[in-house]
Amino acid sequence: AQRKVIDEVLALFQLTREHLVSVKNKMRSEMEYGLKKETQPLATVKMLPTYVCAMPDGTEKGKYLALDLGGTNFRVLLVKIRSGRRSVRMYNKIFAIPLEIMQGTGEELFDHIVQCIADFLDYMGIKGASKLPLGFTFSFPCKQNCLDKGILVEWTKGFKATDCEGEDVVDMLREAIKRRNEFELDVVAVLNDTVGTMMTCAYEDPACEIGLIAGTGSNVCYMEEMRNIELVEGDEGIMCINTEWGGFGDNGCLDEIRTQYDVEVDEGSLNPGKQRYEKMTSGMYLGEIVRQILIDLTKHGLLFRGQISERLRTRGIFETKFLSQIESDRLALLQVRRILQQLGLDSTCEDSIVVKEVCGAVSRRAAQLCGAGLAAIVEKRREDRGLERLAITVGVDGTLYKLHPHFSRILRETVHALAPRCDVTFMLSEDGSGKGAALITAVAKRLHLKKD
Ligand code: BG6
Ligand code: GLC
Repeated sequence: AQRKVIDEVLALFQLTREHLVSVKNKMRSEMEYGLKKETQPLATVKMLPTYVCAMPDGTEKGKYLALDLGGTNFRVLLVKIRSGRRSVRMYNKIFAIPLEIMQGTGEELFDHIVQCIADFLDYMGIKGASKLPLGFTFSFPCKQNCLDKGILVEWTKGFKATDCEGEDVVDMLREAIKRRNEFELDVVAVLNDTVGTMMTCAYEDPACEIGLIAGTGSNVCYMEEMRNIELVEGDEGIMCINTEWGGFGDNGCLDEIRTQYDVEVDEGSLNPGKQRYEKMTSGMYLGEIVRQILIDLTKHGLLFRGQISERLRTRGIFETKFLSQIESDRLALLQVRRILQQLGLDSTCEDSIVVKEVCGAVSRRAAQLCGAGLAAIVEKRREDRGLERLAITVGVDGTLYKLHPHFSRILRETVHALAPRCDVTFMLSEDGSGKGAALITAVAKRLHLKKD
């Protein structure tokens, strides 16, 4: 009887092919809404134009600074691009962003960022150097009407600094640099991490037209035909669209597959009601879903001797790296038990079997949902280009994709099953999105020089 309850819970996370096809179709229609002027204000998949229209062609060169804010790590980078050989040298430093700064005031956040830049310039010994061009990877939804303006629509993931939503983050950065009055920088571009990732991969593989992040958050960008983007003038060529697909489902269209655990995770988050698809598919939330299930099973007396410990009540204990370890096939159950003990959860051997099953069900569903979304995008590209078959590369980054033992495989299998006429190659971005930020800045400089 106990096993029956556990199986019933796990079954809630099993999606049929019909479910996944329906997710793919819904994603497709939400994307179309987001591209149309009339329906855009209501769209849950925001489809934000990025003003990135050109890929690097190998002639870019020079020294650039890049900032990378919004993932697990905040980084400042110096990127040196040499033309011709497509070779790039990078120097970077990781800085912490304390929780009180992530959730303090906007001014404090940007002062902190500029403080980190100052430290980095000192560290590299280039503080007095000429006004370096800077590319700012800012991994949150931004409304853009040019490359160097980005109005924050709303914070997502773990950020909640005040007085930033509705403001241009490039302005906020420039003002913080002025306030400090110690060095000058030329902020040339602001971009999403998906866009940086796509660019990093496109530098090596011109078939790369999509950037996917499966990390703390979940998001995709891709190259769209200008004629389909109603919000931007002009019908010629292509432009990169930041889909912000994390908001998919915020109008209730995924309710059929959302479980009570998803609802609980959403309600306990910094942005209830928002980013529902992201909350089912990304690293910041998978562990939370697992924790909610474990609490429920414990209440039913099926785990941890029926005792809900303080630890189990603590938000955020199951980070992506722990889920990844627990699900590793090479790990004996005894080791799973040890990990749980490290987390402060005193478990029996049977407990660890159940915990592992729960983790498996949650991460499997995440990979499948993400695959269904991606299938919608590659199919759209194939149809828009009028091709029978499409070969396309997806640049990918993010801790969930990189660390988890099964996520990437299930994602690939799902895309393959749901978009059989597309040959999709996944290319891991080795250098994060900082390199892409520098490349976009370099492309912008190159195009600008041509114009002048
Ligand atoms: C990194 C990028 O490599 O991947 C970041 O440089 C991005 O900008 C990140 O946000 C996504 O991964 P995670 O798991 O750190 O959120
Ligand atoms: C969140 C952000 C999005 C970002 C993604 C991955 O979904 O809103 O902009 O790309 O996380 O970091």
